[in-house]
Parts: sequence; structure tokens; C-alpha cells
Amino acid sequence: MKDRELLQELQKYAETDYYPFHMPGHKRNLLDFPNPYSIDITEIEGFDNLHCPEGILKDCMDHASRVYQSGETRFLVNGSTCGILSAVCGLTDRGGRILMSRNCHRSSYHGVFLNGLQIEYLYPQIVSKFGIQGGILPEDVDKSLKKYPDIQAILIVSPTYEGIVSDIAEIARIAHGAGVPLIVDEAHGAHFPFARQGGFPVSALELGADVVIQSLHKTLPSFTQTAVIHMRRGFQGTEKIEKYLSVFQTSSPSYLFMASMDRCIRMMDADQGERLKKLADAVREVRRLSETFSCLNILPLDLHGVSGIYDIDPSKLVISLKGTGLSGKWLSDRLRRGYHLEMEMSGLDYVLAMTSPFDREEGFWRLKKALSEIDKEIETMVSRRRQDDRGVEHLQGLRREAPLSIYEAWNAKTEQVALKESEGKVSSEFVYIYPPGIPAIAPGEKITGEIIELIEKYKDQGLAVQGTSDGTAEKILIVRN
Ligand SMILES: Cc1ncc(COP(=O)(O)O)c(C=O)c1O
Repeated sequence: MKDRELLQELQKYAETDYYPFHMPGHKRNLLDFPNPYSIDITEIEGFDNLHCPEGILKDCMDHASRVYQSGETRFLVNGSTCGILSAVCGLTDRGGRILMSRNCHRSSYHGVFLNGLQIEYLYPQIVSKFGIQGGILPEDVDKSLKKYPDIQAILIVSPTYEGIVSDIAEIARIAHGAGVPLIVDEAHGAHFPFARQGGFPVSALELGADVVIQSLHKTLPSFTQTAVIHMRRGFQGTEKIEKYLSVFQTSSPSYLFMASMDRCIRMMDADQGERLKKLADAVREVRRLSETFSCLNILPLDLHGVSGIYDIDPSKLVISLKGTGLSGKWLSDRLRRGYHLEMEMSGLDYVLAMTSPFDREEGFWRLKKALSEIDKEIETMVSRRRQDDRGVEHLQGLRREAPLSIYEAWNAKTEQVALKESEGKVSSEFVYIYPPGIPAIAPGEKITGEIIELIEKYKDQGLAVQGTSDGTAEKILIVRN
């Protein structure tokens, strides 16, 4: 074990030429913030209290609410995570039922756990050419609401990590027809409300969702951990959600974080979409160049209506290696080692480059050069290209059977068994790759041969498989019979 100081390591890294195609959205490119110690205070006279806002924090959040045209907007200092937990717990009764898309982030599952909920899943469609999840079909929402009239809330992630947006307006219409609130996890779409042009999707708040949660830090110039929750005008559940915000947020919220959020919203509002327009032009260039590639493919934007896709966020570059026999991990390692470009995420056969309005031109030309060279390099690796991708297709869109709720399985008597020998058992823990943190298996779900195959595939490709108590997913905790 080496004795290293984190601050020194961060400073050393900041001095390198590694370029971030990952969060946070400020891209380490904001230079006019004061010395953090000089403005780091607590709730002293004149600076209000986030848990009982009456002064400057109330004014800033009211300003945010005017910008977003919401009923209420609240600053979140514990990320979208605490907004999701509060929305789920605030809008459901203990032991109730939630309708939730299966590709939700682990924080949604934790909300389900805390309130001991039963889940009815909405399975996203699959974009098989790219091996990613597509949109949620409004008709699936309708069917589930009719099948389970006791559903208390709907939770959908849109956009997905890869930028896929579902038909929120239609889903909101169906939800409201059934008198059920719609929560949209728009963690990856915090930039949508600020776009005027450039083909960015419309924010779920504008499309009628009741509660929308956005991580400012993911795509906008704000510190990591900062997010906002919006409640639509006229929405009746605001107070219940706010009660939970005081549970899930620290009692010592950072004034640096709150100042960073307030600054971010004002800066983006004043910018009137200019930076996002430039970003759209820059990513269009990358997509255009990729049309000349022989091996690498970038998810195009003209997939409306395909696989439940209503819209696509152009700022997410999903770079696919399908058909090459190479993995997402291979490409991210190649980009890191060969070009000092750090990606946001690797999937089985794609990588995700996350861009933001604070990216620099230099980043885009380095990415274009790297991808052009790597595409040629892959073309020469003929033998590898002959490998096919069999074994992945049938593992996408797997349906899960859950004999127990997450709460029951998490609190059951358990035993640890080898993952390879766990088929037919009920899991007591999560297994996911992080990012994106979507569970391959959640507590209470039956482990099938296909799920084991999927997790083994993640491990074979060196992806960060997390969640199990052994730390490696060689073993898994199952519910004892
Ligand atoms: C879809 C989605 N929702 C919610 C979250 C949680 O956001 P935060 O990190 O701001 O708590 C994440 C984090 O990656 C996410 O990908």
C-alpha cells in the first residue's frame, strides 16, 4: 500500500494533458471561482438555511424556479440520488407499488428498498445494432397501470446514460389520466432546459412530468454532487417530497455547492443557448467524420421512432465497436494510454464520450484524430474483426422474476455461494457495472443462467463489476431457503 495524499495526486493529474470526456460538466474549465476556503461558511446570520429557506437561499431557489418555470425548484447537495430517494419515498406509501423502468440507476432501487415497495417493471426497448437500451413505450405504461390500479408513482429514467429520451409527453398524459404522478430521472439532461437550438431534447418538466431530477454536475458547470429537483406548477406532492429532502440531505450543506449551483443556473440562463449551440456543432463534426470510418460507429441521431426512441441527446457520443470483436474496455484503454483521452464509461462493446457546453475545441480535435487513427488500426486487425458478437444479443432486455421485494431479500437470512452455482436462487444483493449503475441483478430477483452469463461477460471484459459483498462478484449472497 502506498502512502499518497489525495490532494497532491489531484494536483499532479490536473497538470497533465489528460482530457475529460466525462463528468463533471465544467470540464475543469472554469477559472473564475474564488479560493474555496474563503467562502466556505455555515448557516451564519444573513446566509439562510437550506432546510428552512427564508432568505438568500430561498431567493436563489425562487430565481431557479423562474428560470425553469417550475412550481418549486430545490437545490440538492447530495446529488440526484437524494432527490430520487425523496421523490420515491414521498410519493409512495410503505409497502406500496411503483411502476419503474428497469434501467433505473441504483439510487431508484434504494428508494424502493427504503419504502419496502413492490416494483412493476417497464422494460426499455433494445437498440440491437448498438447494444444499448432504447426508450420506454407509452403503451407499456398504459398496460401496467391498467393491470395494477394500485400503482402509486411512475419513475422513468430519460435520458438514459447514452442519451436516449422516451416519449415523456405521452407518458405524462397516460399517468395523469390514471391519477398517478410521473417522476423523471433526468440526471443526464440538466442541460436540456438551456438549449435554444442544436437539436437538444425538450426537458421532461416542460413536457408535463410532475417531478424532474437533474444532476447539474453531470453536464453543466457545477461542482460534483450538485443537482436540482423540480416540481411542476400545481403539483400536489411537493410538501411530502420536501419532508424527505430534509431526511436525505446533510444538515451541513456546503455553501460552495450551493453557490456553484446558483452560479451555474445564472450562467446558463444568461448564455441563452450559445454554448450549447457550439457544442451541437462540435459533436455534429465528430459524427460527420465517423461516417468515413470502417469499423467504429457513432450512434446516429436519426433513430426517432426506432426502439421506443423519442429523441436523442446529441451531446452523448456512443462509440460502438460492434462487429470488431473488441470490447469497450479495449477502446477506452486505447484512448487513455495512446491519446490521454479519458472516457465516461465503457460498456461491453461501446464507450461513451460525455461532452458538455464547457468542452474545448482542443478536446474535439484530439478525439477526432484519435478515433480516425484507431479506426484504421482496427481495420488492420483482421483476425479480430472476424470474431462476432454472438453471446451479447440474447443477454439484452432480459426479463427479471422477483419472488421477493428488495426490502425482504436485503433483510433475509443469506448465504454466500459461487456466482456460477447460483442459478435458480434468489439474490440478496445487487450486481452492477459502475458506471452506469443499472443492476444486472437486484435483491429479490431470481438468478438465471443468462444473468450469470451476462455478469461473467462483464468480468471477462474487465468492466468494474460492483455491488457484491465479496467485491468481485465471484460469489454472491443469496436468500437462504
Ligand atoms: C441515471 C442516473 N440517475 C441518477 C444518478 C445519481 O446521480 P448523482 O450522482 O447526482 O447522485 C446517476 C448517476 O450516475 C444516474 O446515472
